[in-house]
Amino acid sequence: MKAIVYERYGSPDVLQLRGMEKPVPKDDEVLVKVHASSVNAADWHMLRAKPFLVRLMGGGLLKPKNKILGADVAGRVEAVGRNVKQFQPGDEIFGDLAGCGFGAFAEYACVPENALALKPANMSFEEAAAAPLAAVTALQGLRDKGQIQPRQKVLINGASGGVGTFAVQIAKSFGAEVTGVCSTRNLDMVRSIGADQVIDYTQEDFTKNGLRYDLILAANGYHWILDYKHALNPKGTYVMTGGSMGQMYQAMLLGPWMSMTGSKKMGSLIAKSNQKDLVFVKELLESGKVKPVIDRRYPLSQVADAVRYLEEGHARGKVVITVEHNA
Ligand SMILES: NC(=O)c1ccc[n+]([C@@H]2O[C@H](COP(=O)([O-])OP(=O)(O)OC[C@H]3O[C@@H](n4cnc5c(N)ncnc54)[C@H](OP(=O)(O)O)[C@@H]3O)[C@@H](O)[C@H]2O)c1
Repeated sequence: MKAIVYERYGSPDVLQLRGMEKPVPKDDEVLVKVHASSVNAADWHMLRAKPFLVRLMGGGLLKPKNKILGADVAGRVEAVGRNVKQFQPGDEIFGDLAGCGFGAFAEYACVPENALALKPANMSFEEAAAAPLAAVTALQGLRDKGQIQPRQKVLINGASGGVGTFAVQIAKSFGAEVTGVCSTRNLDMVRSIGADQVIDYTQEDFTKNGLRYDLILAANGYHWILDYKHALNPKGTYVMTGGSMGQMYQAMLLGPWMSMTGSKKMGSLIAKSNQKDLVFVKELLESGKVKPVIDRRYPLSQVADAVRYLEEGHARGKVVITVEHNA
């Protein structure tokens, strides 16, 4: 099979298209014929081993332990191990492999069955592959950490990116009144996916305009954590899922302490993929309440270009990888 392989940490230049042995599923694994994947920040964090913690948390100290990146996957079950109960050959599936060694930038991948769910019936492989990691992050940030409620005023900072475009739609599906923060060129897109209000971050600083929110999800960008706190209603909640390193460290280090000393909750979330949430996302996609926003598509052979584009930090929605098998 063909796969995009990296033997050492580095820039996208170290990614190489190679021929490899087709993998054989273990007893509890599913062999997936990959039809599409999508790129996430997690891929370039693993590629560059940035932050350094990546090496200590199972990525491989001196060189990558898993040689094929790609967390999001959509495809067809080709074969199943003898203990697999939920899937059979021919099933169309989607899932997130970040918790089980990545590997979706390839023609085939072996995956534990609990990392997968049946693909939303109304979605193409490309649309399905756009969703798992980003949508589950948005879901867990809003629902689990943010305790989102109907009619709450919710602000999504970074509303036009991979996580943000799902966050806007998922917040709307919970009945919230949503404000999306993005740049001028993305205002119409963010409105079109359901935001009730949009704020152009190049023209206006939402932390300084006097408006207050019940829940703020920081999917991207940067604001000083005290400014986020200032933009919350008295019992409001701030959840950081991404953005600049400063934004991440402030939320992780100062957030818990600020939550203990005041009425506002200030926290962060590292998403943990699980089958239940994947099925929840599948149902949102099938109901039409959530639709992936796809910015660009790249063939498997051009994964390096796709990663370079995502790293620039201005993708509008998701960057998808298509895997052709007859090429
Ligand atoms: N916590 C977790 O478990 C988890 C999971 C997934 C991702 N993440 C993190 O979440 C972050 C976002 O991921 P993503 O997939 O959404 O990234 P992404 O798709 O690369 O985000 C790109 C988007 O961010 C917008 N953006 C850039 N600077 C901004 C700013 N200052 N204010 C508001 N928007 C801005 C860009 O809009 P413009 O072009 O208009 O600037 C673009 O649409 C990353 O840091 C990633 O590492 C964390």
